[in-house]
Amino acid sequence: MKVLITAGPTVEAIDPVRFLTNRSSGKMGYALAAAAVKRGHSVLLISGPSALELPEGVDFLPIESAAEMYQAVESQITKHDIAIFAAAVADYTPTTVADQKIKKTGNEMTISLTRTKDILGSAREVMGFEGTLIGFAAETENVIENARGKCLRKNCDLVIANDVSRNDIGFDSSENEVTLVYPDREEALPQDRKDHLAYHLIELIEEL
Ligand code: CTP
Repeated sequence: MKVLITAGPTVEAIDPVRFLTNRSSGKMGYALAAAAVKRGHSVLLISGPSALELPEGVDFLPIESAAEMYQAVESQITKHDIAIFAAAVADYTPTTVADQKIKKTGNEMTISLTRTKDILGSAREVMGFEGTLIGFAAETENVIENARGKCLRKNCDLVIANDVSRNDIGFDSSENEVTLVYPDREEALPQDRKDHLAYHLIELIEEL
């Protein structure tokens, strides 16, 4: 099958030397890409900046901002059977990007931010994707409830939820412990290495 995967953080420029980003390392998305290749799928990885080595056999579309990721996904998604959104996309981006480096002035400064477009939330109705749609939910509280809300709102077949309040798993860690949240049920998986978990997740997603 043809699998599209988003991964990593996005980087939102403030001025020529500064940006807003988040703690995503890209490990989960890259592990999913490697696992999908191993399972014989054709994989397109659309990723924000990551220090990770690109898994062999993966087609790669590098992006920086949420807007660039949106465009890349929009142009590619309907060519795929499965889309997995593992990227930690910025929810807000600076309203304007300064042409020149911003100089310090007073004791406080405020940056105006504007909501980015929800890429996963646009996959079905805006982009017309009819394949299997998988989201991630990084939560710090009410993990299942929040993930189920995302699953239903964004019309996903499955949302992979993890608790990012724990510092032994999740962001930047090599291990993860996730709960599979389907529209009508959930299933907790044991903590495991991200590469093992990724292989298991790809097998499960094939069944969907
Ligand atoms: N996502 C996306 N585009 C965005 C934001 C998120 O595609 N602009 C995707 C992520 O890749 C992930 C899922 O949506 O698969 C996360 O859902 P979201 O509701 O955006 O999570 P949060 O950003 O944590 O949102 P909230 O503030 O509702 O918790």
